[in-house]
Amino acid sequence: MATTACAHPNIALIKYWGKSARPGNYPAAPSLSITLDALLTTTEVRNCEEADRIFFDDVEVPDAKVLACLADLRDVYAIPYLEVHTSNNFPTAAGLASSASGFAALIAAINAHCDLGLDPHAQSDRARRASGSAARSVFGGFVALDGPNWVARQVLDAEAWPLKTVIAVTTSEKKSVASSEGMQLSEATSPYYSAWVTSTATDFKSALAMVEARDFDALAALAEFSCLKMHGLMLSTNPGLLYWNPATIACLHAIRELRQQGIPVFFTVDAGPQVKAVCLPEAENDVQSTLQSIAGVERVLTTGLGQGARIVVP
Ligand code: DP6
Repeated sequence: MATTACAHPNIALIKYWGKSARPGNYPAAPSLSITLDALLTTTEVRNCEEADRIFFDDVEVPDAKVLACLADLRDVYAIPYLEVHTSNNFPTAAGLASSASGFAALIAAINAHCDLGLDPHAQSDRARRASGSAARSVFGGFVALDGPNWVARQVLDAEAWPLKTVIAVTTSEKKSVASSEGMQLSEATSPYYSAWVTSTATDFKSALAMVEARDFDALAALAEFSCLKMHGLMLSTNPGLLYWNPATIACLHAIRELRQQGIPVFFTVDAGPQVKAVCLPEAENDVQSTLQSIAGVERVLTTGLGQGARIVVP
């Protein structure tokens, strides 16, 4: 018997970059994200005989993070050996947050399959241990991840403020430095790190109020500030973490220009070269056609806000 769950990636408007020293993969600062419905990870789990087996798109890959996640769960719960089959409908590990949707779907599937009885908040705690951003993909709409428990929670549901996101894919290649490694390097070497942690806590509080008030212009300015500040921190890491390519930068300029023309859109970029343009629904077509016309943009995907992780009923 197999159990299947699905989850969507999320993108942070207030970014997470850095961990606290406490074991359990606790972030150093809070973050705020939106869950995206057009991108989807589907994960099936079933019992197997002798050892865990992990498959991505039907190819067996002994993924260390997935195996560690299973081992971490077995410290607390009786879980048999599992065969895990995962597939994404979008490029993996290219800055589209596949680990977020991947671990949120995996925890949801195991929770149901093994009858663990975890509520969404407890699932978010388990997902965070595997990948910080995965804690947020357990929930839909606008999602906050903050202390003292560092378990995500929904701030607004997907229908309450139905923003659109246009994603400009500027390469389908895998990124060079993984987030966990990059964060550790930033903490160890960047002279800006402590300022980043302190100021992000302030940004998070302001962003929560802006989301509550549906204040798009204020959120646009603050989300771009958080994004550029995170990339400033990455650039000031030694050796510098440079995730952008020329098309990434061209997209940022184009999005700023659209906003100057009065089109309600702002950008955000994670640990990869893809650009996510978040806009009000009426701006979707203009944003799409602008990003599509930029040299180096391979393709453009448009998405609304999605639901949290859930079981797929056969
Ligand atoms: C730039 O969640 O991938 O996307 O906890 O080490 O797995 P780990 O990190 P991860 O980091 C995400 C970083 C980011 C910003 C964000 O999503 O908040």
